[in-house]
Amino acid sequence: MEKYIIEGGYKLHGKVSISGSKNASLPILIATLLTDNKVILHNVPKLKDVDTTISIIEFLGKKVVWKDESTLVVTQSGTAYKEKGFVVAPYELIKKMRASFLVSGALLANYNKVKTALPGGCAIGVRPVDIHIKAFEQLGIEHYIESGYEVFIKKKRVPKNSVIKFRYPSVGATENILMFLSKIPQQVTILNAACEPEVVDLANFLKKLGVQIEGAGSRTIKIVGCKKFTSSDIEYTVIPDRIEAGTFIIAAAITKGEIELNNVEPQHLTFVINKLRKSGLVIETENNKIYVLWKKSLKPQNITTRPYPYFPTDLQAQYMALMCTLKGSCVIKETVFENRFLHVGELLRMGANIVVEGRKAIVFGVEKLKSAEVMVSDLRAGAGLVLAALAAEGVSKISHIYHLDRGYEKLEEKISLLGGKIKRIDE
Ligand code: EPZ
Repeated sequence: MEKYIIEGGYKLHGKVSISGSKNASLPILIATLLTDNKVILHNVPKLKDVDTTISIIEFLGKKVVWKDESTLVVTQSGTAYKEKGFVVAPYELIKKMRASFLVSGALLANYNKVKTALPGGCAIGVRPVDIHIKAFEQLGIEHYIESGYEVFIKKKRVPKNSVIKFRYPSVGATENILMFLSKIPQQVTILNAACEPEVVDLANFLKKLGVQIEGAGSRTIKIVGCKKFTSSDIEYTVIPDRIEAGTFIIAAAITKGEIELNNVEPQHLTFVINKLRKSGLVIETENNKIYVLWKKSLKPQNITTRPYPYFPTDLQAQYMALMCTLKGSCVIKETVFENRFLHVGELLRMGANIVVEGRKAIVFGVEKLKSAEVMVSDLRAGAGLVLAALAAEGVSKISHIYHLDRGYEKLEEKISLLGGKIKRIDE
């Protein structure tokens, strides 16, 4: 099993280039199922989750080739696999990654009968798909569960001037429904939609295909799909990964270093940047750069994770690692996922002082985190542990790092270039 060995205590300094967004690349790759045209996607990160998505869309009829380090070329090579008239997205592929449930929307745009395996829960929560399903129902799709599969049958037309209101601004449900509606040539309004930059990126990709979308990035999205997409090849550049960028900003803070981040979109991190500035970190931004400098001891700040534009749940573990090292205390409230404090137990093993009360964690700073052998439970918890280890006294060993390979491109390479002492070993 591969592990990270990290020797803490080195300030990170230098320049780092941020990769393309994982959570934008996945839905956009799935959206290529909507068209038979060639799609060239730039700024795609080479990650496990991207590989999984490629396997899924290849199973459903695409051919995908890496043209260079970060460019994918997607072409049509066959047809989707059918079983008794149903196009099937099988459990073997869907279970590897929850985001694969997004194929439902794209497949329902193309076919009348679709079976998608239900993804099941994961370490950070139960993660139901009821919001997706309710919206499909309202849009005239019948469905039932059979042997772990959601079976969808498109029977009725989408009602005229439909208005869908989500009970919660789910990122995945917003993306799934946008993909489904991209071929329905009448206006549908989505209320309480997710505003995350990754949703906007998918909407921009769909617009390139010819779909009319207004309001992406706000809580109300209006979409008018089209029967026939543009006939030319599509070329699109995915947005930078705001969570990877946020992770490196916190890495500079926790190691008292100085980092310049390139290929970033500072606006996507406004809330996080303001919070860290308030704690005393120097952060300057320009077009596609963020400059971070630790100048003086930082002060703890409370945070509550909430949907965009507020503090992202995907940076909560990394932020908690930083708070563990500051003098004073703060409260971190997780409202997006019900079980996203699995890193707490591991941080305690590194000498942190954290008390969890339901969805609240009270973090009391300690003089110094200490090295330990710790285990990663999910991608972002893993990032939190890597940051804690970079700041800790001594040499830490981090296992189950395959979670990190799902979402951080060349992590050890980037940290090493910044002067961090990190190695991958096979043990
Ligand atoms: C996306 O997950 C991201 N994944 C997650 O990234 C991210 O943490 C999350 O959005 C929130 O920002 C991808 O984009 C691939 P949601 P998603 O639907 O779409 C509940 C990472 O580390 N919910 O907005 O699954 C759900 O259980 C990750 O990169 C329902 O109850 O997020 C959760 O508590 C992990 N019913 C909350 O809403 C539903 O039908 C937010 O989920 C859908 C969601």
